[in-house]
Amino acid sequence: MADTALPQKIMTARPAPVVVRTRAELAEARAALTGSVAVVMTMGALHEGHATLMRQARQRADHVVATIFLNPLQFGPKEDLAKYPRTFDADLERCTAEGVDLVFAPGPDVVYPDGEPGIRVSSGRLGTLLEGHSRPGHFDGVLTVVAKLLHLVRPDVALFGQKDAQQLLLIRRMARDLDFDVEIVAVPTVREPDGLAMSSRNMYLTELDREVALALPRALEAGRAAAGEGASAVRRAARAVLVAEPLCVVDYLVLVHPDTLADVAEWYRGEALLAVAARVGTTRLIDNAPLMIGLEGEPTL
Ligand code: PAJ
Repeated sequence: MADTALPQKIMTARPAPVVVRTRAELAEARAALTGSVAVVMTMGALHEGHATLMRQARQRADHVVATIFLNPLQFGPKEDLAKYPRTFDADLERCTAEGVDLVFAPGPDVVYPDGEPGIRVSSGRLGTLLEGHSRPGHFDGVLTVVAKLLHLVRPDVALFGQKDAQQLLLIRRMARDLDFDVEIVAVPTVREPDGLAMSSRNMYLTELDREVALALPRALEAGRAAAGEGASAVRRAARAVLVAEPLCVVDYLVLVHPDTLADVAEWYRGEALLAVAARVGTTRLIDNAPLMIGLEGEPTL
């Protein structure tokens, strides 16, 4: 078995990406990339969701740059920055397998040479809702680092996952409102075979947690199945699934307009976002499903 597997692996081996850690190294390596550039920004602990972004990036540009940076600015004082998984070697292997050309993996001192930045991007009112309500300052921290990485990498295209729907919305808004010359591309949520949305934080789940966590995708699926019957039916169906799983401590379950994040009215017809956040054991999980309410057709994502 090993004898036949080995040559195959060698034949399909790709060159490892160039890894840079400083601004000067990045500038030099970036200047060497001729043609279009797509960026996939990550905090490491890479999984199949990140890999899918990289794969789609390869289809959209001549070169793919991945950033791996655990951004302290987007973690609250009581959040999981210290215990966030750090798996750099495995991350690099994944980048190699997905044909990433350049990996920018700076430390906090490179990204924030003067310490915590006094000037930040404000995520505004949209950044105070849902995730922003539970995690004050989170989206200002996300947008600030995304803005900096866009300036440093200068990509033509940047890909983000629908898994973090509010983050994606805010990054789109930032690019439009602040005239960033970059195309923002959304990639649908990648799930485990049992439906659980892939997340670096899934590593924290015990076997029991993992069972309980399945209530999230099940609730979204129940909501989706009721989409033809209107907003109330969607909310009712999703809530019923979560209520039946008391170990799943729900932070929010909302059916909102995808652009404003405002609750959709009972008579609303069109695209909506069914979004959920819950604590399972000690782990906070989020998930969402784009839906088409009361109309034929599929949501755009
Ligand atoms: P991280 O959680 O590492 O996610 C990096 C990118 O992968 C984000 O665009 C996220 O939406 C996407 N992603 C994660 N899980 C996914 C899944 N199951 N399916 C599809 N896409 C998925 O999001 C961040 O890092 C940070 O906030 C960052 C944007 C890098 C700024 O620090």
